[in-house]
Amino acid sequence: MDGKGGGAPAPVIEGRENLNLSLSPMSARTTAAAPLTSRRTGALRGRVRVPGDKSISHRALILGALAVGETRIRGLLEGEDVLNTAKVLRALGAGVERDGEGSWRVQGVGVGGFAEPGQTLDFGNSGTGCRLVLGAVAGCPIAATFDGDASLRKRPMRRVLDPLQHIGARVLSANDGRLPVTLQGARDPIPIVFTPPVPSAQLKSAVLLAGLCAPGETVVIEAEPTRDHTEKMLTLFGADVRVDAAADGGRRITLSGQPELAPQSVAVPADPSSAAFPLVAALIARGSSVILDGVMMNPLRTGLITTLIEMGAAIERLAARAEGGEEVADLRVQASSLRGVEVPAARAPSMIDEYPVLAVAAAFAEGTTVMRGLKELKVKESDRLAGTAALLRANGVDVETDGDDLIVMGKGCVAGGGRVATHMDHRIAMAALVMGLASDKPVAIDDASFIGTSFPGFVELMRGLGSELAA
Ligand code: S3P
Repeated sequence: MDGKGGGAPAPVIEGRENLNLSLSPMSARTTAAAPLTSRRTGALRGRVRVPGDKSISHRALILGALAVGETRIRGLLEGEDVLNTAKVLRALGAGVERDGEGSWRVQGVGVGGFAEPGQTLDFGNSGTGCRLVLGAVAGCPIAATFDGDASLRKRPMRRVLDPLQHIGARVLSANDGRLPVTLQGARDPIPIVFTPPVPSAQLKSAVLLAGLCAPGETVVIEAEPTRDHTEKMLTLFGADVRVDAAADGGRRITLSGQPELAPQSVAVPADPSSAAFPLVAALIARGSSVILDGVMMNPLRTGLITTLIEMGAAIERLAARAEGGEEVADLRVQASSLRGVEVPAARAPSMIDEYPVLAVAAAFAEGTTVMRGLKELKVKESDRLAGTAALLRANGVDVETDGDDLIVMGKGCVAGGGRVATHMDHRIAMAALVMGLASDKPVAIDDASFIGTSFPGFVELMRGLGSELAA
């Protein structure tokens, strides 16, 4: 095969149910702000499964779109971020159809086979969708404009655009390294050896996806290992990917370019980053006992669980097994007395999305928790280092930031009573609501509407466990 994939784009298949797959720009999101308040209730009890993993869901759609033939996905996260990726892939010529809850089919166009889209690709709130698709488009001879909502427009894209330009893509316009960005993909992409300047799975993945179209070997050398879903899924789809140890615990990932990707059946495990919210809620709400089913236990995603166990959390892994190529387990979580700990910077990539809710756990612990090396938190959906500190402070917790470190002085209880500004950030919103479940006074957030970007059904799931959440 010539690496330019299957030629004519696959037919665009309409989703059977209208899950926000219309092609109107999401950045014009009209959802009104939805204030929400959580208050202390009794013990949380029950057995639940949180939605599918966001990282794997994006990748399953994207690799499905780059394979030749039909990929089937079960357990896809139907949050707005992933639905935007589905919509964008349709605009690039892939067929994306929803069969039923979490069950999707993707008709791929082959590596290099994306068609030039007739409209701006709008990723809404999703950095992952945007950066991965920038990579996937960079090796195709098409031009495309990438955009997103006000939060995504503030996030750095230069870190991705720089290596993509080395591969041969051209940035036709960008707003000082931010969205909107118009990219002209490379006609003759060249393989590169790239050492990411920051630990970022999105950046690594963008380069690997661009490298699919290049002849020869594309190499990414990570100083600090980040989530490896792209490497694992590329292998599942039949690409030749080698992962070798690099200096000081790093990894060297080598991809052989221009493979023909074979369609797969992908089962998406439950998202550990979403499980983190009911998990911490169960730890801090007295008398709780909750089981979280089928949570992905990929070791590059379990930093939060390691940390909470060091803090004294009662978390048991039941029925450890493999599902969809990933380790999963059911987690039994019981309310626990927590103590402060020091969380090393080296652990940050394995729990980068979990710091807001870890900080909530730390506020209910006895003693000081020091979380080191959180620089990357500043460039998430909001500045999460500042946002997490503000969320705690608004609720009477002693907290400090020191450079890239967050220091929480836990006293075993939290006053609450604060109103938290969520800054279009789903994880700040959910962390604040978890805090209110065990604080003396209720905790209010200004806007719960962004929770649906990663955790549709959060409010209902938490209510089902016994939480009191009210508009
Ligand atoms: C993700 C990587 C992380 C994470 C994000 C999902 C991914 O971002 O915060 O929610 O799926 O690759 P960075 O790569 O920017 O650290």
